[in-house]
Amino acid sequence: MDYKTRTKIARILIEGAIAVDTEVIILGWVRTVRISKNVAFVEVNDGSCMKNIQGVIENPENFPVLDKITTGAAVRMKGKLIESKGKGQKYEITVHSLDLVGVADSTYPIQTKRHTYEFLREIAHLRPRTNTFGAVNRLRSKIAFAIHKYYQERGFYYIQTPLISASDCEGAGDLFRVTTFNLDNIPRKEGAVDWHADFFGDETYLTVSGQLEGEVLATALGDIYTFGPTFRAENSNTSRHASEFWMIEPEMAWAELDDNMDLAEDFLKYLFHYALTECADDMEFFGQWIDKDLHRTLESVVNSEFERCSYTEAVKILEKAAQKFEFPIRWGLDLQSEHERYLTEKTFKKPVIVFDYPESIKSFYMRLNDDGRTVRGMDVLVPKVGEIIGGSQREERYDVLKDRMAKKGIKNLDNYFWYLDIRRWGTVPHSGFGLGFDRALMYMTGMTNIRDIQTFPRVPNWAKF
Ligand code: 4AD
Ligand code: MG
Repeated sequence: MDYKTRTKIARILIEGAIAVDTEVIILGWVRTVRISKNVAFVEVNDGSCMKNIQGVIENPENFPVLDKITTGAAVRMKGKLIESKGKGQKYEITVHSLDLVGVADSTYPIQTKRHTYEFLREIAHLRPRTNTFGAVNRLRSKIAFAIHKYYQERGFYYIQTPLISASDCEGAGDLFRVTTFNLDNIPRKEGAVDWHADFFGDETYLTVSGQLEGEVLATALGDIYTFGPTFRAENSNTSRHASEFWMIEPEMAWAELDDNMDLAEDFLKYLFHYALTECADDMEFFGQWIDKDLHRTLESVVNSEFERCSYTEAVKILEKAAQKFEFPIRWGLDLQSEHERYLTEKTFKKPVIVFDYPESIKSFYMRLNDDGRTVRGMDVLVPKVGEIIGGSQREERYDVLKDRMAKKGIKNLDNYFWYLDIRRWGTVPHSGFGLGFDRALMYMTGMTNIRDIQTFPRVPNWAKF
């Protein structure tokens, strides 16, 4: 085969790197075939970009293989690159030879132009071959690269934190247990499960966040970031929650909450700008088919200054709101997504960073303010998606942290000795946040369900494939 000598369609149609009259070999999957007496058109997509290239066959009677070349088939197409005579494409290929590599008969499920997302979720293994999911997956890759580029260029070190953990960073208890116990015969001691007999000699879970370990590395390397999978067993069947999702968690030593907000704002703007400029082809598709306002929205975020609003101020705004909310709102209660969306969509009409939340509703690690009732936490809220970033300045004072952990009722305080130790010796103010990668991509594409952003989604009652 011509794997090494083939030309990717992106080289021709996106990069414009191939001269007219060049002989090219295209390897890809057939999107449509039109055959008439004197001419046949075979449109092929190879995944390298959104666009298809059209093969023109001027003597179809000499190509008996055309009978078997149907939508979904894998083909090899060899011919000369020419400027297209037809409308809608700049170049096409005059085909000299056409081979069928992999058949796709009429049972191939992706036949019509548009399928519902619900239908496509049932064929998650085939949907990457559609326009929408091709674009989503290409964007995922490019934005992942942009994330590394952003931090590497700013002197942050990429660290890898463990996926198996003995601590519950968010303290929410939504943990997936990791065990090698035979579930039909769990060792017990004095009536309780004997976790000492388990693989790690302790209770262990899939991590919900790399933050705690990230803090350890930040207080040694200065600025670090993680970028990896996290797991949450919260049984919330919403369009924005997944049980397995990727998170980017920068952590900076010598940084306070304002520095953290500055980084979050600059980082988001960078990513949106990167998508608009470096992924223009796929972004154009999202703007045309998924959300007509997408470009306007993203450009306005890139060019606007994020609003910064304390939790106390936010509650005052919500209490005065003309809108009726499903959930109650008063000082001390957590903001629900309807409240978050009101603030970002109705009040400010741009991204909002809410900060200084009540101590009682936030995790143990957030730095206590002098008022004793609020902590230096922050959430970045964006229209349509709601919370996209959660972060804080960390409690760097040993005694205050220890008190707060005890007050929060953290069991196995011993398991956190290492987290406390970095406050014992050479403690420094430090801050960080977590950006949900999948939520960021929802925002960038206009896709409204996280199940259609993740390649193989993991949500309650769904881990099949
Ligand atoms: O607000 P969260 O829970 O914050 C943390 O985990 C901190 N330890 C981060 C840090 O300070 N280093 O989660 C951070 C972000 C959320 O804002 C959201 O974008 C995303 O992670 N997220 C989810 N995304 C998809 N599905 C879920 N179930 C998510 N839960 C959180
Ligand atoms: Mg949060």
